[in-house]
Amino acid sequence: MDLERLLSDRLAPAFAAVAGVPVDPVVRRSQHADFQSDAALGLARRLGRPPRAVAEEVRERAELADLCAAVEVSGPGFLNLTVADRTLGGMVSALAVDPRLGVPVAATPETVVVDYSAPNVAKEMHVGHLRSTVIGDAAARTLEWLGHRVSRANHLGDWGTPFGMLIEHLVDLGEAEAAQELSMGDLDTFYTAARRKFDDDAAFRDRSRSRVVALQGGDPATLRLWRLLVAQSESYFLTVYDLLDVTLSRADFRGESSYHDLLAPTVDELDRLGLLRRSDGAECVFPPGSVGRDGEPLPLIVRKSDGGYGYPATDLAALRHRTGTLGATRLLYVVGLPQRRHFEMVFAAAAQAGWLTPPARAEHVGFGSILGADGRMLRSRAGGSVKLVGLLTEAVERATALARERNPELGEAEAAEVGRAVGIGAIKFADLSGDRHKDYVLDWERMLALDGNTAPYLQYAYSRIRSIFRRAGVAARPDAGISLAEPAERALAVELVGFAAVVDAVAGSLEFHHLAAYLHRLAAAFSAFYERCPVLRAEGAVRESRLVLCDLTARVLHQGLHLLGIRTPERL
Ligand code: ARG
Repeated sequence: MDLERLLSDRLAPAFAAVAGVPVDPVVRRSQHADFQSDAALGLARRLGRPPRAVAEEVRERAELADLCAAVEVSGPGFLNLTVADRTLGGMVSALAVDPRLGVPVAATPETVVVDYSAPNVAKEMHVGHLRSTVIGDAAARTLEWLGHRVSRANHLGDWGTPFGMLIEHLVDLGEAEAAQELSMGDLDTFYTAARRKFDDDAAFRDRSRSRVVALQGGDPATLRLWRLLVAQSESYFLTVYDLLDVTLSRADFRGESSYHDLLAPTVDELDRLGLLRRSDGAECVFPPGSVGRDGEPLPLIVRKSDGGYGYPATDLAALRHRTGTLGATRLLYVVGLPQRRHFEMVFAAAAQAGWLTPPARAEHVGFGSILGADGRMLRSRAGGSVKLVGLLTEAVERATALARERNPELGEAEAAEVGRAVGIGAIKFADLSGDRHKDYVLDWERMLALDGNTAPYLQYAYSRIRSIFRRAGVAARPDAGISLAEPAERALAVELVGFAAVVDAVAGSLEFHHLAAYLHRLAAAFSAFYERCPVLRAEGAVRESRLVLCDLTARVLHQGLHLLGIRTPERL
């Protein structure tokens, strides 16, 4: 158990006794001691008593003698808690022998569907897909590590009206030529050319429209061409995932088309439940709670006036499948914030239909945009959207050049390896280290800097520790006793034992910036420790203890970064 929790559990009964009702002791890190509780202030206000007296009474009642070396009332009525070295040392020792670093497997594992990445066939992935892919992968990795059954659902945009024009363009180009273009990742050229013909050429437009009808009608020749388009795009997306080092594989593609057969039964059920209403020729659901600016209820169109099903119907069918057939109880949708309203309506409609009932719940894991240095939406020089591969390649190139410059001893292959780990790591960390709801500015200098809240800083801390062991040719003995005489040793130990609480919180909120900030705090605490406390030059039990602290720091950094999808090279 983590310290905050342990202390909180001990303080809670004391607070309850003083208050007569349960009170959350709100234990947090402190500047003045290891931890502090500020709850006496609020309680005193409610009781109409002096806060210091309330804090004093809690202090007297709380059973903390075995955990704390000091419990003091300070300031207006804070309780400052200093954990006993023995307690802290014991917790560090327990971590040292625990392959899970204190993080328990979930007591009740559940089936979680993580809907993420979801690019569109024959269209370039853009930076919005980058954020979805990076955040979604961190979620999948984290929940899986906690023992949940994670199903990755790459909700590929592989169906709908644009496929009429895309297939016709493919026919015009010739299959071989089209395949060539698409496998090169030249998706934008392909899409734009199709679009231009559709806009300019009436005959092409007609062909495209009949092609959509043929596709929806299951015409075998059309389906074959459609599959070709999808397969080429899938292969291309897999090369991006490989470069990006994410855990999505071919088996995770769950394109919109895969819900095709479920659309009619889903809409029929809505109809049977009396939830469908006709509006402007379309079949709609009006989910409770969604109203427009004029106060009128907003429709979720499940069947268009031409009889076709669209994006909302597909999401309803997919959701119904995920809870009903897959038995998932947690549904995550890692999609940009502009789609918030869409998901609110889908979730509300699904709840009404009985497809989303507790314990099952759905969360829109939304995120903001990536901005350019000018503070506006990231655009290419030509003004178009920035191509994801271009961005990733640039990151790797910059990081490889920096790696060569910083460490001329690295061989060619190793420099490339390090450049990839650092470049991709930097991109991911820049994405995950800020509050995901906010936009952020893509700043190469900052994200590749060796100091600051960056991947390279953490990777550097990791490799530095590994080099201590390499240089000395020693290993830590996990069962060595822990001594925490120096303040810098204690500070590091307090961070180390805090890993579990952070992972637990992040698994709930999916706000990975808390994990990123924690890893940064840990690396900084290590840095301060390493400056003040000699390790290899220390002797006997102190040396043994410090080696354990070093090793644990490396392991927590490695595991924490791994959950974020970031590699930790042995040498930088
Ligand atoms: N393909 C969509 C897009 O590019 C994202 C799909 C998100 N997932 C979902 N279940 N709707 O905007």
